[in-house]
Amino acid sequence: MTEITLTAPKRLRGVIHVPGDKSISHRSVLLNAIATGSAHITNFLPGADCLSSVACVRSLGVTVEQPTERELIIHGVGLDGLREATDVLDCGNSGTTLRLLAGLLSGQPFFSVLNGDASLRSRPQRRIVGPLRAMGAQIDGRADGDRAPLAIRGSTLRGGQYELTIASAQVKSALLLAALHADGPLTLSGRIDSRDHTERMLAAMGVELTVTPDRITLHPPTAATTPVALSLRVPGDPSSAAFWWVAAAIHPDAELVTPGVCLNPTRTGALDVLCAMGAEIEIMNERLEGSELIGDVVVRSSALRGTTIAGALIPRLIDEIPVLAVAAACADGETVIRDAQELRAKETDRITTVAAGLSALGVTVEPTADGMVITGKPDQLTGATLHSYHDHRLAMAWAVAALVARGETTIVEPAAVAISYPEFWQTLTAIQEDV
Ligand code: S3P
Repeated sequence: MTEITLTAPKRLRGVIHVPGDKSISHRSVLLNAIATGSAHITNFLPGADCLSSVACVRSLGVTVEQPTERELIIHGVGLDGLREATDVLDCGNSGTTLRLLAGLLSGQPFFSVLNGDASLRSRPQRRIVGPLRAMGAQIDGRADGDRAPLAIRGSTLRGGQYELTIASAQVKSALLLAALHADGPLTLSGRIDSRDHTERMLAAMGVELTVTPDRITLHPPTAATTPVALSLRVPGDPSSAAFWWVAAAIHPDAELVTPGVCLNPTRTGALDVLCAMGAEIEIMNERLEGSELIGDVVVRSSALRGTTIAGALIPRLIDEIPVLAVAAACADGETVIRDAQELRAKETDRITTVAAGLSALGVTVEPTADGMVITGKPDQLTGATLHSYHDHRLAMAWAVAALVARGETTIVEPAAVAISYPEFWQTLTAIQEDV
């Protein structure tokens, strides 16, 4: 399938169990691979990105069983048990796989090469290569290490202090994983306000980690604090649920329920923004599952108004901006997105690709260096042909737009959704009612 054509349905109704969280699925594989003991992971996201992490750790000598599609048994090899791979490690489209593995492999006593698809090879890597080199890592790559493939000659790493200048969980996690092999504690300061799943999981595995609002210190494991395998159920992915939240909010006759979604505060910026825009949202049954807060989210048809999305909110919703831009286009008034220059370093340059798609749908949108200004108006979207550019979140954002657009909307390369949400198109069909 290379194209899919959609029209607006009369009604949207459904209870949608979104797939497991992508970030937590990756970490469940990468961290348990170097733990002692075996871990049983349920509700694992079988998306292409997380399967890249599974394939890479297998190439590094870790046995991973997959008894069912959403279940893994990972037989950890311990901190020093990884083995040199016989070939290049293929991270596919997955920045999380490449960046977290770069950290993990920098302190291993062997050689590794990390590579990925054309999109991943075009994304900046200096953000990890710079600080890892400062810790003593020997890493090279194209453009003096700013682009994959990256070649890593494992070496002895130093702890110390590092101030993060980008609020990126991939950078933060790469450094924390490198620090597991450093000769002393590593303290991170600065922009540590990105998703904190790595910190939570390492602490739950027994690694000594102190976290304050402005500092994270990881102490290299001793026999007593070496990571121990952690079995867990992966909570639903809020970044996947956000497509349904926006769909329900902008559609005139909708009620969608997403049970069991991760409500970790570093991930709930989209809910805050939708609430500020006037969305009808109810959050029920908040509870802890392992080290993560989860809950059930209900969203109903809403009259949205424009808002400002900027500052400290940005890292809490960075992956949801394509679909929030669709919400903004359907809201009354202007929405300003600022401080989001990181969008240019995602699977596509999402400032350019989102603005181009909205324009094609008839929306007035002005891209800026670090965001965009969207002039919203209810009922203004007109069906168009939109390309996913192989970016999973664009394909899904345009599908949500199609649910309210006049006429037909065609999405080119819809299969991109397999990166993070393999059953997206089936669910989209299942929730439409034409009464
Ligand atoms: C992720 C971190 C974010 C996010 C990505 C997943 C992670 O990237 O956009 O989808 O799992 O750590 P950055 O660290 O580049 O912000």
